[in-house]
Amino acid sequence: MTDAKAGLEGIVVARSELCSIDGQKGILGFRGYDIHELARHATYEEVAFLLLRGELPSAAELAAFAAELGEARAVSGEAAQVVDLIARDAAPMEMLRTAVSATSFDDPDKDSNSEEANQRKAIRLLAKIPTLVCRYHRRRAGLEPVDPDPELSYAESFLTMLSGRPPDEDAARTFDVAMILHADHEMNASTFTARVIASTLADMHSAVVGAIGALKGPLHGGANEQVMRTLESIDDPDRVEDDIRRRLAGHERIMGFGHRVYKTMDPRAEILKELARRLAGRADGSEPDWFAMSERIERVVTAEKGLYPNVDFYSASTYRYLGIPTELFTTLFVASRVVGWAAHVIEQHRDNRLIRPSSLYVGPDSREYPARDGAS
Ligand SMILES: CC(C)(COP(=O)(O)OP(=O)(O)OC[C@H]1O[C@@H](n2cnc3c(N)ncnc32)[C@H](O)[C@@H]1OP(=O)(O)O)[C@@H](O)C(=O)NCCC(=O)NCCS
Repeated sequence: MTDAKAGLEGIVVARSELCSIDGQKGILGFRGYDIHELARHATYEEVAFLLLRGELPSAAELAAFAAELGEARAVSGEAAQVVDLIARDAAPMEMLRTAVSATSFDDPDKDSNSEEANQRKAIRLLAKIPTLVCRYHRRRAGLEPVDPDPELSYAESFLTMLSGRPPDEDAARTFDVAMILHADHEMNASTFTARVIASTLADMHSAVVGAIGALKGPLHGGANEQVMRTLESIDDPDRVEDDIRRRLAGHERIMGFGHRVYKTMDPRAEILKELARRLAGRADGSEPDWFAMSERIERVVTAEKGLYPNVDFYSASTYRYLGIPTELFTTLFVASRVVGWAAHVIEQHRDNRLIRPSSLYVGPDSREYPARDGAS
């Protein structure tokens, strides 16, 4: 071996039937379905079924899947206690990293990596993460948690548990589409983490907890929160361009731009941009025009650096218009992506080989252990 590939760029590490990306053309598909089609026609529940089971569900399969998800939403026992105990001090992603781990304690399938057990655990994780996020948020705000309603859709249930009020149809659909867009994304850092952990034949909860740790970083899922912080930190919305140029001149990274694989606009960002544009049109004007500011940032960054928005850029303003607190943005990424992680764990366990690459040794040459005074 003569060299190491920094960041494993361009290295193919697995065969997968889940997600395909054409980074030059900006095309993304889940099991052959284009992301634009899924965002237009599917629900998050259908996309979750597609990723986990391999095909889109029939009406009966979807109803059964949605019922199973609804039933699994409740969080009790240690995981609920953990949330209550740490809500005040733990940051949102610290809470998830800890509380998701606690959901395995009473999981009846925790000791099995069989395909059936993994499918059941995937549903429980998918169902419970929104409940953990909302319980945490309400405890932190000094409010009583809202129990999940098994009859509601994934998006309606999530937003109702968060705010205590049922969302209007438009808000629920917008949120649902945002969740669809984040559901899987090939061999990103957190998915790779999940597959590495699964390849040791560790269990799904361990893989998901590791993936949460990887997603937390600002170069990955943590970017959506940082995008909103950037927007909020711009004092004078009329001088957006100057602000961004100054940051670029200081070699700052503008969060929400650039991608390892896409060399053009991320198709998820295209869809989120239109969602944010529509929500901005409905805004009451009590806050800055986040969408207009975002578009102006996009123009500067694309012109000056040739970089395009990624999924995190317009998801920030979309979530803000939906009334979601900024500190929770990255936990929404977890809530959606857990289905991708789970589907990858299932693939890995189905045809496993330990993932154990090598490193190129660049330390000192072989040398003698030094003689020490008095040492024998
Ligand atoms: C996503 C990301 C980590 C991909 O990075 P990568 O493929 O490893 O590319 P590099 O970090 O090597 O960057 C290549 C060049 O583009 C620049 N660049 C990349 N993203 C940039 C950004 N968001 N703002 C400013 N400059 C950026 C780098 O500074 C580097 O410039 P240089 O060659 O002059 O040093 C990177 O684009 C980034 O940090 N983006 C911001 C964080 C983000 O939005 N993450 C979410 C990804 S979905």
